[in-house]
Formats: sequence, structure tokens, C-alpha cells
Amino acid sequence: MAEIKNLKDLQNTEYGLKKIFEDAEDFLPLNGTDYIELYVGNAKQSAHFYKTSFGFQSEAYAGLETGMKDKVSFVLKQDKIRLVLTTPLEKGGKIIEHIDEHGDGVKVIALWVDDATKSFEETTKRGAKPFMEPTKEEDEHGHVIRSGIYTYGETVHIFVERKNYDGVFLPGYKKWSSHYNPEPVGLKFVDHMVGNVGWGEMKKWCEFYARTMGFAQIISFTDDDISTDYTALMSKVMSNGNGRIKFPINEPAKGKKKSQIEEYLDFYNGPGVQHIAVATNNIVETVSAMRNRGVEFLYVPEEYYDDLLDRVGKIDEDVEVLKKHGILIDRDEEGYLLQIFTKPVVDRPTMFFEVIQRKGAQSFGVGNFKALFEAIEREQANRGTL
Ligand code: FE2
Repeated sequence: MAEIKNLKDLQNTEYGLKKIFEDAEDFLPLNGTDYIELYVGNAKQSAHFYKTSFGFQSEAYAGLETGMKDKVSFVLKQDKIRLVLTTPLEKGGKIIEHIDEHGDGVKVIALWVDDATKSFEETTKRGAKPFMEPTKEEDEHGHVIRSGIYTYGETVHIFVERKNYDGVFLPGYKKWSSHYNPEPVGLKFVDHMVGNVGWGEMKKWCEFYARTMGFAQIISFTDDDISTDYTALMSKVMSNGNGRIKFPINEPAKGKKKSQIEEYLDFYNGPGVQHIAVATNNIVETVSAMRNRGVEFLYVPEEYYDDLLDRVGKIDEDVEVLKKHGILIDRDEEGYLLQIFTKPVVDRPTMFFEVIQRKGAQSFGVGNFKALFEAIEREQANRGTL
């Protein structure tokens, strides 16, 4: 696979990626992220957290009241982002095993497609392990076809075909009306979702995305790019052809102390989703609102801002405001980006969120990695896991 720096290069590349993407456009066209489903210990209370702190809106519900006997799911929405929070109602079974093993975490990264049957056939034909055969679900609003394959760890991709459906979410779900509706905070869509995989497994999973789903590697970071005095990791970013789905894959690398990826793998008991990056058009407003509502972000030392303008050039934002919030900035050939990372949002030091605002830049903030990892190391030191 060839390496190039940004998505625009992909369109004109000499490396053969255009061909890869054209083929993929034919065998697995993806319209975007459909939903992200987390298995959690208490969906009702998690839903309250994501409404209050992240500004998600009550969207749909399935449980005993809707005829679902063995689990309960709350669906939350903010602009194009849809979160599904699921908790089992019975002991034993796959969902409770998942929670026992991993704690609260992402089970499903669902992808919106026009043909879920073809998506299943094309990916499994190329070696993907089946999770769910194409299944038709229907109610008075029409029908949905879903199918699924496994990716890293116990994480799965579900392909959702909803062109013949106009219900609130999926058959079996009812509109969820609540008298508690905190304002959205300006989160727009899923920018990228990052997977942590085991030692030496990054290449295998990048090849998985290339082979079974027609993705190509758009960026690669070695442990020289991403290391501090103590810890290191390596990362490659895989993208589909239209750039709507981007999956960076991290693996730990040897450092003087324990890599943050290794800490994740220890507590999650294997590979899984490390962070969900969500886009906003105004990161200062979004982050102010989230902070006021109790979201905790990683601390960035004030020195980070001392030579900021020398590093990134002219920016529209007031540096003092960015400093107050701990928002990081990075520039590439196409523009710049602003980003910030939450502390883990679950009990184990595993999953967190990134809020990102892109002002031209299509990259992933490599210039911020050192500051970011040092911030994570301070947290690891507090946990005694560095
Ligand atoms: Fe990210």
C-alpha cells in the first residue's frame, strides 16, 4: 500500500489507490456511519449522561414496553451522530459477557449502505468473519436489512440498508419522548473512530480493511513520530474512497514505561475502540458547553501555547481562549485543525472522545501527539499504570 499525506492526494495519486477506491466503490459503497452501539452496565443512566454532558437528544427506545424481552436500548442523536446504548435484562448471554470482559464499550460500528446483502457477500467473500447473516426486519414503517462482520477484538461492523424504511430508528423501536431535553452542544458527525489492537497486529488489521472493505492507508505514524520519554505507539489511518469512514489503527510500541495502548488493552482485555472523534463547527462553544455540563478534558500545560503561533501560523481563534480550554491546534498543507480529548468516559481507563474542528486540514494532529501523550501519561501516573 502506498502512503500519501492527505485525502486530496488520493484523488490524483499515481500509487494505484484510485483504482483501489474505484473497485471498492463498486463492491462496498459506504454512505457514512449509521450508528455506534455501546454495551453498557446501565443504559438508562448512560443515556442520561450523554444527554446531559454531550447534548445528545432522546431519539428512540426499545425494551419491555415495546416487546423486547431480553435487553433494553436507548437511541440518542445529535445532528448526524447516532448512539445506541444497550443493557441486557437477563443474566448470562453474549451482551453481559461482553460487559464482564470489557466494561462499557463499543460493540458495533454500523455503516450505512444501499445494499446490506451485497455488503455481506462481498466482505465475507474477501475473508471477513460473519457476525450476522443478512436479516430483514420490518414493521408498519417498512423494512430494514442488516448484516454484519467481525473486525478487531469482539468489535463488529453492521451494514444497515434503510432505503425502504421511514421509522424512527429500526423496526422494534418506538419514538422516545422525554420531558428532559438539554440543548445540543454542536456535535455534527463522526469524523473518525480509532481502534487499539495488540502488539504487532496493526499491519494485520490495516490489511483486513484493505482486503475485505477496499480501504487504503492514507497516513502512517511510527513510534519515532509518536513517542515521549516514556511511552510509544504506532498508528496507520485507513480510509474508504469518499473519506466518510476513517479508521486509525494503533498498536503499542516499546518505551521506557507502559504504553497508553497497553494500558487500554489490559483494562479492555483485548482490542477495541479507543476513541470516537466527533466534529463541530465551533470547538470553543462546544467545549465550553461540555465543560459546563461536567465533561472532563485532558489537561494541557500552559507552555504548549507559548510558541503556538510560531508553529501553526495565523489562526482565527484567540490563543488565550484556546489555552483556557486546553484546545490543541495543528497545521498541515491544507489548513489547520483544532482538537481536544476527554478523559475516559467509562470507569475503566479505556474509551474516550475527541472533539475536532477542521479548518481545511484533513490530517490527524501529528504535531499534537507529544503534548497529548504527555497529558495521558500524567493521568496514567495518577492511576499507577504508567
Ligand atoms: Fe483521533
